[in-house]
Parts: sequence; structure tokens; C-alpha cells
Amino acid sequence: MKIAISNDHGGVNFKNALKKHFESKGIEYIDYGYQPGLDNTDYPDYALSACQAVLDGTCDYGVLICGTGIGMSIVANKIPGIRCGHCSDTFSARMTKMHNHANMISVGERIIGEGLMLDIVDAFISAENEQGRHLRRVEKITAIEKKYSK
Ligand code: RB5
Repeated sequence: MKIAISNDHGGVNFKNALKKHFESKGIEYIDYGYQPGLDNTDYPDYALSACQAVLDGTCDYGVLICGTGIGMSIVANKIPGIRCGHCSDTFSARMTKMHNHANMISVGERIIGEGLMLDIVDAFISAENEQGRHLRRVEKITAIEKKYSK
């Protein structure tokens, strides 16, 4: 499993903590995020590169980090094929994979603590997509994407 990570300047500390966490667990990742030297970055640019990696299969899932996690998730959810859950608790992180078949999550470094963020990412990664009625609903999301994609 390979995880795309991306962040703007509001998510640098979480990104570094998450990379260490993945390294300690032997989880592969690609860092598409903010690189040192830039003071101020635009979160749409950084969200997009990680979403692209999930869409084209370079990575299986993605974690987006900004100050709130909200801007990144708004960008991600504009992209057909990306389903990004904005999570500040482990229950939501698990459920967004199980019920919404989320392929990305976003978290806010100015919202939650580092330990909770790592638990949220673990909960998301280890959950499984549930089928049946949940698949039917996700297929409806895909149909909506198709209808409004020009
Ligand atoms: C950057 O200041 C901040 O706006 C950004 O990290 C994010 O929170 C946007 O949603």
C-alpha cells in the first residue's frame, strides 16, 4: 500500500510526524506537499498533486493536511473519482472508508493534536470499504459526478 501525503504551509508539522509514523510502520508514501523555503502556499495546488496520484494509481490512498483540513477537502471533492472525508475523530475516519469509500482524508493541524491525527490516519487506512447498500450509494455519487462533469 502506498499513501500520497500533501500539505500546505499550515500542515508542515503534521506531515513530518506522519512521515515518521509511516516509516516506523513500514508504510510507503510519496510526499507531494509543501517543501521548505516557501512561506506561504496555496492549498489547491498541493491538494491537486496528491489527488492526481490517487486517481492515476500511483498511490492507493491519500492524506491531505492544511490548517483546518477544509480547504484541501473542498479541492479534493471537486475531482471526479476522489472521495475525501474531512476527519477530526477516529469514528469518522473509519466510517468514511467503510460507508463512503473515501480514498482520501483531510485533517487540520490547527484543529486537532498530533496523536489524534495519527490515530485518525491509522483508522482510515485499516478500515475496509463495505459493499451492498454502501456501494449503491457510492455509485450514486459517481453518477452525480458524471452528470455535472463537463
Ligand atoms: C492557510 O492559512 C489556511 O487557510 C489553510 O491551511 C487551510 O486551513 C485552508 O483551508
